Amino acid sequence: MFIHSQFEIVENVLLARDTYRLRLHAPDVARSIRPGQFVMLRLPGTSDPLLGRPFALYDVAFDNRQQPAFLDIVYLVVGKLTGALAALRPGDSLIVWGPLGNGFPAIACPHLALVAGGIGQTPFLACIKAVLGKQSYGGLQSKQTVDKVTLCYGVRRAEFLAGVDDFRAAGAEVFVATDDGSAGFHGFVTDLVEQLPRPDRLIGCGPEPMMHRLALLAKEWAIPCHLSLESPMACGAGICFSCVTKVRTESGWDFRRVCVDGPVFDAAALVFED
Ligand SMILES: Cc1cc2nc3c(=O)[nH]c(=O)nc-3n(C[C@H](O)[C@H](O)[C@H](O)COP(=O)(O)OP(=O)(O)OC[C@H]3O[C@@H](n4cnc5c(N)ncnc54)[C@H](O)[C@@H]3O)c2cc1C
Ligand code: FES
Repeated sequence: MFIHSQFEIVENVLLARDTYRLRLHAPDVARSIRPGQFVMLRLPGTSDPLLGRPFALYDVAFDNRQQPAFLDIVYLVVGKLTGALAALRPGDSLIVWGPLGNGFPAIACPHLALVAGGIGQTPFLACIKAVLGKQSYGGLQSKQTVDKVTLCYGVRRAEFLAGVDDFRAAGAEVFVATDDGSAGFHGFVTDLVEQLPRPDRLIGCGPEPMMHRLALLAKEWAIPCHLSLESPMACGAGICFSCVTKVRTESGWDFRRVCVDGPVFDAAALVFED
């Protein structure tokens, strides 16, 4: 069910440097959204910024009748909309449309490794809870399909790490990497992944060079890999073609719209620019 409506903010709390968790009272979206899907957010009563912005589902929270009622989004302040979001308070509202995108595929394997770079950790909390059978999403019955989940999470500096306790509480083994060595492994998160035991499959979300490296690693290890892309979007609904990415086809390559054909793609199908 696609919803376009205005919803009230009930929390907007600082999690880490420039990083906030926004909780919206949005029962219709909370009931139907699945891990790996996203929503578009826009400020009401202003045309600046004019276009909505995409944000992954972080988690769904429940009301005191144990019904899905709240939508959690974790965002990093980088520009106009995210800067304005940081100034919003409980009682303010946002225009939301979604759920959008394909979400993560069905995953059943002994060991799943999730790899996040920058703010790319956000789609993974719901994914971890779903595959470990801890929480139901989109009205589906929860069922454990993965024995072990490892999250490798890389940021520039320790102060940007957001949600590590949430991922551990959900049951994931978490390793962190920082570019400057201020926490965990000193270096890129993909270098950390290479040092760990080979998992049965990979899912990644983060900057393009990280995703490219992950796609190559999955090929080398001969394991399935899905990547969730963070392309800029204007409509989120397949109309404007502002979000296209290149995918392999039988005759070479073609464009696909990340908002409707993704944001999650098989890494082997994506064409990366060198
Ligand atoms: C499917 C999907 C899911 C996503 N999920 C999340 C999520 O869960 N959390 C999250 O934080 N983000 C997420 N993103 C990314 C998020 O959509 C963007 O960070 C957001 O659109 C930024 O909007 P903004 O208005 O704050 O930034 P904008 O103002 O649009 O700026 C965007 C970028 O341009 C740069 N920029 C802006 N102005 C200038 C300028 N004058 N000169 C040079 N550079 C400039 C900014 O630094 C920034 O990097 C997701 C993206 C996708 C596609
Ligand atoms: S954002 Fe408009 S087609 Fe994808």
